[in-house]
Amino acid sequence: MGRFRGRSTTVLKPKSTHQVSQIMKWCYDKRIGVVPQGGNTGLVGGSVPINDEVVLSLSNMNNVRSFDPISGILVADAGCILQSLTDYVAPYNHIMPIDLGAKGSCQIGGNVATNAGGLRLLRYGSLHGTVLGLEVVLPDGTILDQLTTLRKDNTGYDLKQLFIGAEGTLGVITGVSILTPPAPQASNNVILALPSFNNVLPLYQTVKRQLSEILSAFEFIDRTSYDLAVKHGQGRALSDDEVAGAECFVLIETSGGRREHDEEKLSDLLGNLLEADKPLVNTGVLAQSPAQFSSLWALREGVTEAVSKEGKAYKYDISVPLSSFKDVVDGTREHLRAKGLLHDKAVKHVLGYGHVGDGNLHLNIVADAYLPEIQDALEPYVYEVVASHRGSVSAEHGIGAMKTHALHYSKSPVSIALMKKIKEIFDPRGIMNPGKVLEHD
Ligand code: FAD
Ligand code: MLT
Ligand code: ZN
Repeated sequence: MGRFRGRSTTVLKPKSTHQVSQIMKWCYDKRIGVVPQGGNTGLVGGSVPINDEVVLSLSNMNNVRSFDPISGILVADAGCILQSLTDYVAPYNHIMPIDLGAKGSCQIGGNVATNAGGLRLLRYGSLHGTVLGLEVVLPDGTILDQLTTLRKDNTGYDLKQLFIGAEGTLGVITGVSILTPPAPQASNNVILALPSFNNVLPLYQTVKRQLSEILSAFEFIDRTSYDLAVKHGQGRALSDDEVAGAECFVLIETSGGRREHDEEKLSDLLGNLLEADKPLVNTGVLAQSPAQFSSLWALREGVTEAVSKEGKAYKYDISVPLSSFKDVVDGTREHLRAKGLLHDKAVKHVLGYGHVGDGNLHLNIVADAYLPEIQDALEPYVYEVVASHRGSVSAEHGIGAMKTHALHYSKSPVSIALMKKIKEIFDPRGIMNPGKVLEHD
């Protein structure tokens, strides 16, 4: 995103947990800051040094340690790229429980460190549930081996949970044990064009009721997001007729056990939607081939890339009630207009997309350049809106370097004080990813 730049002179690429341990011990003794780095796809500057820290890249730790096709439990080095793990388990008819647009570059260790959500959370839940064990090197070089493959283990505090979403501030994750679900026998998707955002919620209720157990994703993009995705070549554009009068789009995915059964359910749903007295959707385009399936997904997954090709993005990744998604996007646009910032030389677009099923809205403001007046107009405005809904200022991307100042909008002083105590226990010398998640005192 080009927002952070450090002055590091050194990147270390260890090949084993033992080497990570030796590096950490050395840095601990000399009080040298360390930034763990995975695929460097994070969106809040967490993997970027802000001063002269050593960068510790996990990219050379990329072996699968074991896979049990009966239980579906995969144990892998933290530096394995998510897509390569998906490819690894595919011949055994399993999939990874997590999927996201950055899958070709992000690493499983980075996914765990950010507790990434992504496109499958609706079906398979968060990494707090699917990660069974971790191997972590602590700041002083001690190896914490919690790489169990047990589904059940109620033996006191579940320490691994602390590292899931800690963004590298408590230790370096070197190994991950994760439960992979069986691959669905049939997957399908459909993109629906809606005349009004107000239809999204009733549509979600209808779709949940009619598709029930086969619903695996319910994703939303507004018209601006769709237009940008198409403009920047993400996926195949729908026809002019299909998009006419559409204010927003919903992408629905099904994953089930029997193709005919799933297809029948999906086409019944489409039929019911289109033939209703007051249709919630203008039209629907059902994927007819694996290529179309990928192309429809690309319209949704490609918004991030399209936004970054269009200009400089101010990205807000928030949890707010579903019913307020549109008000938040429209309200932000009007706020910027009132400040005189909505024109070609400042803010070009205000858009919303995200994971409806998870209550997670991505509010993006695309500008010609990063300008202080835009930043000042957006903050604390956006965070105050989020706080008024008792929402989260970071639903899935984390805090990193970008949002440390905003943590208090979602966490109480008591919570922040406890977080600081935990940090102090694990990292008394403050060398683990300094300046991330918690502000320097
Ligand atoms: P990095 O970016 O390298 O690091 C992220 C953070 O984790 C940093 O703080 C770093 O220090 C720490 N870290 C990395 N590896 C380790 C390790 N082994 N041990 C300890 N700490 C470590 N996020 C979502 O939640 N949902 C999405 O749908 C989603 N889609 C995305 C789509 C695109 C196109 C892009 C570019 C990003 C997307 N993201 C999404 C952001 C997401 O956080 C990351 O893509 C991913 O989880 C980070 O993995 P990474 O290996 O690139 O980590
Ligand atoms: C997404 O859902 O596409 C990701 O979280 C990335 C983004 O917010 O741009
Ligand atoms: Zn997302």
